[in-house]
Amino acid sequence: MNTKLSPSVPSQLETECLVVVVLDSSKEDRSEKDKPAPTVECADAAVREAAKEVISSGEVTGKTFETTLLHRPAGLKAKRLLLVGGGKTKNFSAAELRKLAGTAARTLKSKSIRSFAFALPENGVTANDGVRAIVEGAFVGNFDPDYYKSDRKDQKIDAVTIVVQGDPQAMESTMQAGRIVAESQNFTRDLVNEPSNRMTPTILAERAKKMAAEVGLICEAYGADKIKELKMGAFWGVAQGSDEPPALIVLRYDPIGAADKVHLGLVGKGVTFDTGGISIKPADGMEKMKYDMAGAATMIGVMRAIALLKPKVKVTAIICATENMPSGKAQKPGDVQIAMSGKSIEIINTDAEGRLILADGLCYARQLGCTHLVDAATLTGAVVVALGYVNAGIFASDDQMYDRFANANKQAGEKMWRLPLDDEYKEIIKSNIADMVNSGGRWGGAISAAMFLKEFAEDTPWIHLDIAGTAWMEENKPWIAKGPSGIALRSLVEFVKGWSA
Ligand code: BES
Ligand code: MN
Ligand code: ZN
Repeated sequence: MNTKLSPSVPSQLETECLVVVVLDSSKEDRSEKDKPAPTVECADAAVREAAKEVISSGEVTGKTFETTLLHRPAGLKAKRLLLVGGGKTKNFSAAELRKLAGTAARTLKSKSIRSFAFALPENGVTANDGVRAIVEGAFVGNFDPDYYKSDRKDQKIDAVTIVVQGDPQAMESTMQAGRIVAESQNFTRDLVNEPSNRMTPTILAERAKKMAAEVGLICEAYGADKIKELKMGAFWGVAQGSDEPPALIVLRYDPIGAADKVHLGLVGKGVTFDTGGISIKPADGMEKMKYDMAGAATMIGVMRAIALLKPKVKVTAIICATENMPSGKAQKPGDVQIAMSGKSIEIINTDAEGRLILADGLCYARQLGCTHLVDAATLTGAVVVALGYVNAGIFASDDQMYDRFANANKQAGEKMWRLPLDDEYKEIIKSNIADMVNSGGRWGGAISAAMFLKEFAEDTPWIHLDIAGTAWMEENKPWIAKGPSGIALRSLVEFVKGWSA
């Protein structure tokens, strides 16, 4: 998709479709009989005039995601005018705008319209945040996971113009940065979308290598030999049951002039298919376990964005990729595995495999010298019970690091919620015969999984993102297709940028 900026007066712009935001500026506490007060977020009087009739008809209220398409709008050079509702004026921010840009892209592409111009709204966002939100939202909305449909219609937006006044150079670099982040998010979504027969650990490593070569990152991919040589007994315990070889993927970004003494480690769960292993999952819904490598895909996408945005901070990504299969070679409940750190783990449930591979990934990141760790994983069904499909779970061992992440998360407009890591929860993962069990059972399941990981992050400041409920959109939304969401990538990129020297 092409992106460009235009400082022109919206009514004078020739475009297939001019998109403007409509907000409801009525009071928060208006009663049922009070009317909404839709206001067109555009300083150009000609645009407001063109929308006047349909607004006074009462058909347009400004409620979120409401779309109204007008043809041959009087007084405008645009062929069409799309009004998108953005909700209450006072609640409007860049996060809403991002979704509206996605909504515009999806609405128009479904009508085979290939290009549009989006006018920066008057309220709620700065020019900078607004440009970024529009670019990111449009790219995310333009993505559809329909590659394997033989009657694929190939409806796509080819070009977006952002109508904004302001310093052209600053706007241009904001737009390019937004584009890098959004394309990286879609790259992640592409990886997650692939089914497990087309996204094995080996293929994931190949895709990471190809991307690395394109953007100038160093990428190493290792197999079973290296995993055994490093004594990654927890990772190997999961990988040993599968005929498909595992992959340990390392992506390195080490820029000149990087901040002293900071080395960020990004660890991703790359289970390309999770059957549960010997503790096998029920057949119903098991097909979804192809997205159990979303944490890995997120970290690979983050590295792509970082390589192109070039913040001055050293970052290493460690991806642990394997299938989790039952077989004659598979680990069994009751087995004891010795992790790379030397700690012993009693396997209670072979379906709690993510924490096993991450245990060794975190340990390896520390061995490589990482000073701060973040992992992303579709780790537990329990986080879905706790937070539903709306918020991802955040766990943090260090409040300062959490504050940095929370700021980045807010900027990125992604929903996440912090969950606790009190020492009391450690009781749940005690074992009779080993240092710990890999499954603490049902209650507080997302927390006991995080407590397990904490044993391997040890004293290195660490954040864990449980994205089991958010990595996959369960249904189509106006701004995003059903399927892989690419959640957490934008927050992580923003977080990494925050450490730049
Ligand atoms: N990959 C699953 C978690 C998951 C569940 C991801 C739903 C996406 C959607 C993970 O490996 C798993 O099986 N976790 C178990 C842990 C339990 C056995 C302690 C779970 O959550 O049921
Ligand atoms: Mn599992
Ligand atoms: Zn899993």
